[in-house]
Amino acid sequence: MQDDVLFVHGGSPLEGEVRVKGAKNLVPKAMVAALLGQEPSRLRNVPGIRDVHIVRGLLQLHGVAVYEGDEADELVMDPSSVELANVADIDAHAGSSRIPILLCGPLLHRIGRAFIPDLGGCRIGGRPIDFHLNVLRDFGATVDKRPEGLFLEAPNGLHGAKIELPYPSVGTTEQVLLTAVRAEGTTELRNAAVEPEIIDLICVLQKMGAIISVATDRVIRITGVERLGGYTHRALPDRLEGASWACAALATQGDVFVRGARQLDMMTFLNVFRQVGGAFQVEDDGIRFWHPGGRLRAIALETDVHPGFQTDWQQPLVVALTQASGLSIVHETVYESRLGFTSALNQMGATIQLYSECLGGTPCRFGQRNFQHSAVISGPAKLHGADLVIPDLRGGFSYLIAALAAEGTSRVHGIDLINRGYEGFHAKLDALGARVELPEPVREGVA
Ligand code: EPZ
Repeated sequence: MQDDVLFVHGGSPLEGEVRVKGAKNLVPKAMVAALLGQEPSRLRNVPGIRDVHIVRGLLQLHGVAVYEGDEADELVMDPSSVELANVADIDAHAGSSRIPILLCGPLLHRIGRAFIPDLGGCRIGGRPIDFHLNVLRDFGATVDKRPEGLFLEAPNGLHGAKIELPYPSVGTTEQVLLTAVRAEGTTELRNAAVEPEIIDLICVLQKMGAIISVATDRVIRITGVERLGGYTHRALPDRLEGASWACAALATQGDVFVRGARQLDMMTFLNVFRQVGGAFQVEDDGIRFWHPGGRLRAIALETDVHPGFQTDWQQPLVVALTQASGLSIVHETVYESRLGFTSALNQMGATIQLYSECLGGTPCRFGQRNFQHSAVISGPAKLHGADLVIPDLRGGFSYLIAALAAEGTSRVHGIDLINRGYEGFHAKLDALGARVELPEPVREGVA
């Protein structure tokens, strides 16, 4: 597709201001939560990204009226006429998102049945849904796997359960929350994920009338209630997008003020950014990130669940680490294949070697399974422009950063994938002085 390519002329620093809105990894889930209410909900700070459009379409298919609110970036969702949607329609709307799996609990509560098509999402590992299906069965759902997707029913209603996750999965924790709030009795979830987006979803559900407590030992307890109302909520800012722009500033020797970025959600990232040699200043309304001059420092880093270093920060940071002096080690412990994007960086002149051993940290569950999930990055590297094909959302943004830091011109293919999670990234790049352009439109009759 012609307009799916971006020409990036690298070599100049990014300078200026961008604004981040609500988090991609909260907003679609808060939209799903609206399905559980008896009254309309209002979600604020909603970004114009594709994942939001997909969930909007899915909600509408299920009879939820979704419209713009009076405030800018506000969505109103009225679930008073929820109904079972046509299977083929759902399939067409599911797109490449993993959000449909989270509709299970709310739909079972509202209409007693749910259909979930094959899921998409970034190809950064196997991304199974076994935890999701197991917890839904714990609540009393039956799951029928058919060629077209999953059909779920709850013949005896949904009841609270004692659940312990094998791994603190973000999506499965959200699945439990969205199901337990209206299940009969209490639910105890052990080894839960506690990412800021999950806590924000809990705030949404509490506003609706849910009773949820979060203990310090990753145990979440939920007392089911018979009825939930609507909510008015301002989504927490996107800490993943914020960190992406921070890494772009560092890798291009630039200076970017990220309006909306919040220190509390980014503390772990900020520590690492400082260790590498980046500078930042926290303001009331955002965080300024810049390269203070001099050499960047190599570091050893391990990704982990919150409050560890978020896996989604890893890919943009790796690009910045190609500019650090010495050997950096990155051990990816959340997704087994999230370092595959580095082969393209090597084509651009980086020196990154992947290993299947757990390097530089604690052994993880991928250590014995031959996944190349550790990287040694040798820098500083002089990057040059290349032809790049975007593999996944964060990897894609990271390629943009690399292309901006490189000498010469890169052709970045598959940029549409970036629209899934970065609102108006092209306009933001323009505002930061990046020299990026779409190819000239193909003239009619010319192949
Ligand atoms: C969410 O994915 C995010 N996506 C991801 O962001 C993020 O990287 C991830 O959480 C970790 O923080 C959304 O919120 C839409 P998981 P999720 O369940 O919920 C394994 C981005 O770039 N697992 O915490 O799907 C899984 O394979 C995206 O913004 C199972 O084995 O992640 C992985 O190794 C990418 N079985 C680990 O758990 C399951 O049933 C953590 O996954 C579910 C998960």
